[in-house]
Amino acid sequence: MVSGSGSNLQAIIDNVNLGYIKANIELVISSKQDVYALKRAKENNIKSVVLKDDVKKMLEVLEENDIDLIVLAGYLSIVDKKIIERYENRIINIHPSLIPKYCGKGYYGIKVHKQVIRNKEKVSGATVHYVDNGIDTGEIIIQEHLQVNEDDTAQTLQKRILEIEHKILPKAINIVIEKLKF
Ligand code: GRF
Repeated sequence: MVSGSGSNLQAIIDNVNLGYIKANIELVISSKQDVYALKRAKENNIKSVVLKDDVKKMLEVLEENDIDLIVLAGYLSIVDKKIIERYENRIINIHPSLIPKYCGKGYYGIKVHKQVIRNKEKVSGATVHYVDNGIDTGEIIIQEHLQVNEDDTAQTLQKRILEIEHKILPKAINIVIEKLKF
């Protein structure tokens, strides 16, 4: 599930194509129209649908496509609790900070990195976690950190952390697949 440029989606696509992730991407759900992530889906012949706030339709679409695992890859909406209930321990999310720091309501995208810089943090990073009914509160699957440089801006930090995201999201997917023994 995506809402933006879909570089994390691209990391998943590339790792599926390389055979590192042994799974198929059945469907991309976007909460927004006209985002670059949808273009990436199309270019890779992956079915996509734009859906937001229609929980019934979302459950239907997930069922129809026989979805085993939901990956929130830059998805900026809240997943409804009916979906979380139905897919318990089968929804994961990537967040660009070291949870429990800089997460929860209001912390998304560049805002996270701006606050890290403002607070003169020495380290930051990215986290992949299970999705539960809270915001960014589910069990952590992988976390990787980096040093924040003195000359880092929110933008340079975002770029460097995105590179970490592209590595740990495929790893986390494999961990979850292994656990679920599909
Ligand atoms: C990533 O930093 C993700 O952690 C955050 O939004 C950004 C999405 O990037 N929640 P992309 O759409 O995968 O390029």
